[in-house]
Order: sequence, then structure tokens, then C-alpha cells
Amino acid sequence: MIEPREHLRLDVGGLLSGRDALASETRIVALAPHLGVEVEIDADEAAALLRVGETPWLPLAALAARVSLDVAERLLAKGLLIGDGEAHAALRERDAAIRDAHWRPLSAVAHYFSRWRDSGLDEDARFTRHRPIASLVDECGLPPPHLTERTPREQRRRLPAMRESMLDELFERRVTCRNFDTTEPLAEADFSDVLKRVLGCLAVVEVMPGVVGLKKSYPSGGGLHPLEPYVLVQRVDGVETGLYHYHASDHALEPLSMLTAEAAARFAKVMVGGQGFFAEAPVHIVLAARFERTFWKYRNHPKAYRAIVLEAGHVSQNLYLAATDLRLGAYVTAAINEIDIEQALGLDPLRESPIVVCGFGARTRRERTMFEFDPLGKVWPEG
Ligand SMILES: Cc1cc2nc3c(=O)[nH]c(=O)nc-3n(C[C@H](O)[C@H](O)[C@H](O)COP(=O)(O)O)c2cc1C
Repeated sequence: MIEPREHLRLDVGGLLSGRDALASETRIVALAPHLGVEVEIDADEAAALLRVGETPWLPLAALAARVSLDVAERLLAKGLLIGDGEAHAALRERDAAIRDAHWRPLSAVAHYFSRWRDSGLDEDARFTRHRPIASLVDECGLPPPHLTERTPREQRRRLPAMRESMLDELFERRVTCRNFDTTEPLAEADFSDVLKRVLGCLAVVEVMPGVVGLKKSYPSGGGLHPLEPYVLVQRVDGVETGLYHYHASDHALEPLSMLTAEAAARFAKVMVGGQGFFAEAPVHIVLAARFERTFWKYRNHPKAYRAIVLEAGHVSQNLYLAATDLRLGAYVTAAINEIDIEQALGLDPLRESPIVVCGFGARTRRERTMFEFDPLGKVWPEG
């Protein structure tokens, strides 16, 4: 993908002489997931890329008929053109990984270039939890209305009052937890029940030789269940602190690396973008998508990536409910350091990469220190 990226700056000279106070400069950025980093290019290089196809190999003479060799050399050096020589072996492997996984280019770019490494929300004053709403309104104005109203009130067809259900109490007690108990470990039975209920298989069905369907408690696009749970155990009774993969049909933990309590706490904080109040949860679950599993059926498909992201939302809601049912707290966050997580888990991001991180555990019984949105007073009855 080639992105013309505008950079604005205040032009004081222009301002003083009555001209436009904003000066803009446009740079051209190539976003190529096989390279892993953005690459700045010039207009000649961008034009040359448009004249070179992306699939059949071009002999040098044919390439020279389309673009100047000088520009082609620069694009080869930047890895935006790929050669058949030894020097480009690694790039060819990366390029093949994207093609073999049947990524839709827009989706590949959106996923690959929205990943973070070593980022912290605390460092970004715009998003800190300590920022008063009034200061946000000062900067951004009022938010769009809290509801959409498409007709005048008298035209609304009223619906019957909701009948009671056993789900109501559960839903009302579902509150994002930001006050985890750091003193008591989570009981192994609670840990195990939540994993099984939310992530385990209810049935495993061999549809035909080599094709196995999994039945789980949440829906999955194409029934392919591409999400793999990786579990960081910080404090669970009888379970060693460390990183595990959850085996959904065996209902078992596959140990990946054992960690000291300090290393686990450090990594938890990195995972959740520096949000210490989430990092304190005794258990964290990374939902990583095996893209090639979904793209096996939905090849180069405009909706496939969206379906995977939606699926992660289903899992996290089920996790909230299963934890709430056991009187535990839960959280979910998309503010995650995907690249650090991939490295710790040994994932190749073109094939498998984190979508979301969630976690659960007991709430502190001591004083609440961080805000939770509980207007019904179901979790914090004192208001
Ligand atoms: C996809 C997603 C990402 C979220 N990320 C964060 C986050 O990074 N930090 C945070 O404190 N809360 C996060 N939340 C929780 C929301 O802030 C919370 O759901 C919202 O304030 C409503 O509160 P409730 O969940 O208690 O009803 C996230 C929620 C969702 C669905």
C-alpha cells in the first residue's frame, strides 16, 4: 500500500505576513507487511511500483522496459522490489508467507501496522485514566450524542417491559475490573472452570478425514475457530507462574516458559500497554488469531479479518460473564503490545498474532483504588 502522508506545521512567517498559518508537506510511505517497517519513498519510486506487477517474475530486461534501472535499484535496496538472488532470500520467504496465508492486502496492512512494541498508555496524556472528562471536552468539544433518535418520540413503537431472567443479575454485575486482589492466589478450580467454559471444546467432530469441527461456547466465522488462547499465569493455586498455551480439546495447559513472579508481573504490564491495574490480574489470556486457518476458506476476502476481530469480542464477553458468575472480576483491552507478545510466544505475525488480551481474578476486598463503572452499585454497593 502506498500512503501519501501529510505533515502539518505552524508557519509563523506565514502567520505574521497574513498568509496561511499551516504549512503542509506530503511524504510518501510504503506499507509492506513483508518488510515489517514503513519505508519512505519518492514520487519516482511510487510511480515505478505502479508499473511493476506483483505476481509474475520480470526478467531484468523486461523490468528495464517499464522503469528506470536506477529507480529499480533503489526499490530493490529498500526491499519493495524482490529479486531472485541470495540477498533477497529472507524477503522472498516473508512475501511468500503473506501470499500463502491468503491475506487481503488492506487487512494485512491494517493489522500489521497497528501493532505496538513497548508502548504505554500512561505515556500518552490523551488517554490516561487520570485525565478529567472536562479536559477532554475542552480539547475535543462535546462527544456525539449518547443515542441516535431517528423519529420523534410519539412515533416510537413501545415494546413490552422486559421479563425477568436469570441472566439479568449476571449482566448487571458485569463490570470491568480494575481492582484485582494481589494477595490471594486464584483457586485452581475457578481458573480451570473459566478456561473450560469460555475456551474449551464442547464437542470435537471429524467432518471428514483431516477436517475436524470444534463446538465451543462462542460463535466462529466459518466454524473455523482461529483464536488460540495463550495464558499468563501469575497467581493460581498449584499452577506454576509462567506462559502456557491452552489446549482446547484436552482442557490442559501446555507450558511454554516458566517465569519468576517479578518477570511475570513485568511481562503482564507490557502486554496490557502499561496499564498496571489490569496487569495485577492473576490470570491473563492472549487471544491470538491463526489467520491462515480462517483465510484457508475465506481467501483474500474483504470480511475475513473483521470476522476474526469480532470473534475475539465474543470470547471476551463470555469471559466476563463466566468470571462474573463465579463472583470474580474480568477485563479486556485492545491497548496491547502485540510485537512483544509475539516475540515472547514465538509467533510469526504474518501467520498468528494477538488480537486482544483479557484477564480475570478476584476483586480486592480492600479499598477500591481505581475507577470502575458500576452505576447500579452491584459490585461496589457503597457507590
Ligand atoms: C475492545 C475493548 C477494549 C478496552 N480497552 C480498555 C483499556 O485499554 N483500558 C481500560 O481501562 N478499559 C478498557 N476497556 C473497558 C472499557 O473501558 C469498559 O468496557 C467501559 O468503560 C464500560 O465499562 P463496563 O465494562 O464496566 O461496563 C475496553 C473495552 C473493550 C470492549
